[in-house]
Amino acid sequence: MSPVKASYPSNIALIKYWGKHGNQLPCNPSLSLTLSQARTEVTLYCEAKKQEGIALDYLFEGAPKPAFRDRIVDYISRQNEFADLLRNYELRIESSNTFPHSAGIASSASAFAAIAAALLKAAQPHLDETEFLRSASRLARLGSGSACRSFYGPYAQWGASALPHSSDDYAVPVTEIHENFRDMRDAILIVEDAPKKVSSSVGHGLMKGHPFANARFEQARHHCDQMREVLRNGDFDSFIAITEREALTLHALMMSSGDYYMLMKPGTVQIIDQVFAFRQDTGTPVCFTLDAGPNIHLLYPAHTENQVKDFIATLGGGMKSVIYDAAGTGGTVF
Ligand code: PMV
Repeated sequence: MSPVKASYPSNIALIKYWGKHGNQLPCNPSLSLTLSQARTEVTLYCEAKKQEGIALDYLFEGAPKPAFRDRIVDYISRQNEFADLLRNYELRIESSNTFPHSAGIASSASAFAAIAAALLKAAQPHLDETEFLRSASRLARLGSGSACRSFYGPYAQWGASALPHSSDDYAVPVTEIHENFRDMRDAILIVEDAPKKVSSSVGHGLMKGHPFANARFEQARHHCDQMREVLRNGDFDSFIAITEREALTLHALMMSSGDYYMLMKPGTVQIIDQVFAFRQDTGTPVCFTLDAGPNIHLLYPAHTENQVKDFIATLGGGMKSVIYDAAGTGGTVF
């Protein structure tokens, strides 16, 4: 079989997925902006098997990564769609990221999107595009929840809601987008590049029994519906308010869970303060969001790029580096 190549982007949630149940099902719908530059590129080689047993090699940027390889073996073994591949072929996955490994960007979204897409293409090469995207999104979700949103862009929703065809099993595109939100940029301000101390899966687990869990899931459902309306009507003020409230809520949930913890760093708070002041002083429609880490995603429309870059240049010691990214439309596999 000829090698399969997949290239899939990361995504940044505007409405956060935080809390899961059952087999990687979300406790609330989430909605994200798909990125274009921060991607995982995977080549999957499938050679006819010479002997019994599981044969899977995994190389990340040329080097074996045994712990992640074991996670992938476990993941592939649990999906019926991949049973024949695993039974009949020796598999080799070569993976690399287009962004620096030390950047502190969560890479499991792009990694599992690319891995699921490559495996599905090898296992079922003749699916039509709609069916492929839906199945690949569902399979990616089973590897890492947020990965399911990287198949559509610039906006995707995962989780059943009033949006037609939305589902807890896979993501769907959010298609009614006002021109104000069609060309968004994301400057990722790296505050800290060390691996985070508490993983997302531990964080999701802490939502079980969290005193604010039900109110949070209800708030996220409401925010998701509101955000789709905002994306449709072009209201930037509401976009900013909902996005920033979601980011701060995510971190407030971490800080108020039973085993409480904090991922924001002094530099994170300092930059957030500077974003508030910059927006107040200049009226530039820029806002921040955070994923489960200390780094800041600054979101702004393309036409404000020069002002925002000038602003970023004024940010001092709290920031180590910047990665400029932009909204994208999903990945490719062939
Ligand atoms: O997909 P996971 O399990 O890595 O969780 C992602 C959680 C957040 O990034 C904080 C929010 C989200 O919706 O992406």
